[in-house]
Amino acid sequence: MIGGTENRATPPMPRPAGEQGEKIIHRPIGLLAELTHRCPLGCPYCSNPLVLDPRQAELDTQTWARVFAEAAALGVLQVHLSGGEPGARRDLVEITEAAHRCGLYTNLITSAVGIATSTLLRLAEIGLDHVQISIQDSEPASADHIAGYRGAFARKRALALEVVRLKILLTVNVVVHRSNIDRIGEMVALARDLGASRVEIAHVQYYGWALRNRAALMPSAEQVARALKAVDELRRRYQGELVIDAVAPDYYARFPKPCVGGWGQRSLNVTPAGKVLPCHAAESIPGLEFWSVREHSLADIWTSSPAFNAFRGTDWMQEPCRTCARRDIDFGGCRCQAFALTGDARAADPVCHLSPSHEQVIALAAMQHGAPYLYRTSAGAAA
Ligand code: SF4
Ligand code: FES
Repeated sequence: MIGGTENRATPPMPRPAGEQGEKIIHRPIGLLAELTHRCPLGCPYCSNPLVLDPRQAELDTQTWARVFAEAAALGVLQVHLSGGEPGARRDLVEITEAAHRCGLYTNLITSAVGIATSTLLRLAEIGLDHVQISIQDSEPASADHIAGYRGAFARKRALALEVVRLKILLTVNVVVHRSNIDRIGEMVALARDLGASRVEIAHVQYYGWALRNRAALMPSAEQVARALKAVDELRRRYQGELVIDAVAPDYYARFPKPCVGGWGQRSLNVTPAGKVLPCHAAESIPGLEFWSVREHSLADIWTSSPAFNAFRGTDWMQEPCRTCARRDIDFGGCRCQAFALTGDARAADPVCHLSPSHEQVIALAAMQHGAPYLYRTSAGAAA
């Protein structure tokens, strides 16, 4: 989701002092600003951590403005204003304006529940570039059930239409799993009817909340095969009308995805409380030291913080990645997934068929059951 273009205009940054070998530090392209963890919805695959930052720990408006200025100076091109639900911030317009003033492309990622049309109008006036709205399903009752919020579907529909009426570019995000994967065609048709210019279809990634709900969310192999075929047909049907981006389902792949475009290579993620992470799930890896924008500049964090340097380059790799021809293509896959499935963040992502733990992924994909969702709520975290 972060960074679709390569930042070729700016040269690589100098290596940190004393750093040798293959650890070339590129400039980041995208910054994910998690403005808050507050959210009215309870999606069981939420990418937020199980322990959420409380409201009183959130960065204030001025600090976000400084972070955006530092990000622009560092080479960042796009800022993704996300959460939780960013609409829960009363200063969302001021925060967005601060990013816009720094010359950053502003993308609002919203559940659409919690953004008033008057707020959207003000965002349009100050130059918001793009909006991403997630839909949970094409069927209202199922969509509301997945979101854990009655009436969510209707509100998403209404806000999406308003985004298009205000001539802001709209992408519809569709997260697919066992309950909705058979309606990919209907969800893409809904996005087209709403006036979206792009649809992003992503299978659930099993970290955090989704890991807790894995068996309830996991689609069958037959469902995945049908979905891949459906995406091919949909691309043909909507060619020239709608861009359809699709991310393959991890557990059914032979090779892993190049997660976040490589650790510490393209993007950074600032939490509501100001910690800077190389990816949204990085806190799930124990022992990493994250620096905060409260104490360090973004440039300092990007080049010198221990967490960003932990898996840069290839020196940290073990076999089979260390000598693999694909190591500079997929960077050994996802560090968070490697840790979640093997307990070793330096291992090859077990999604890779060359990983000694790959059989485990095949077994986990076969473990599906209809348990009720553990929703993303404080009660869910306690459970
Ligand atoms: Fe990627 Fe490592 Fe698998 Fe090679 S062995 S394809 S580098 S995950
Ligand atoms: Fe953390 Fe993939 S989500 S490296």
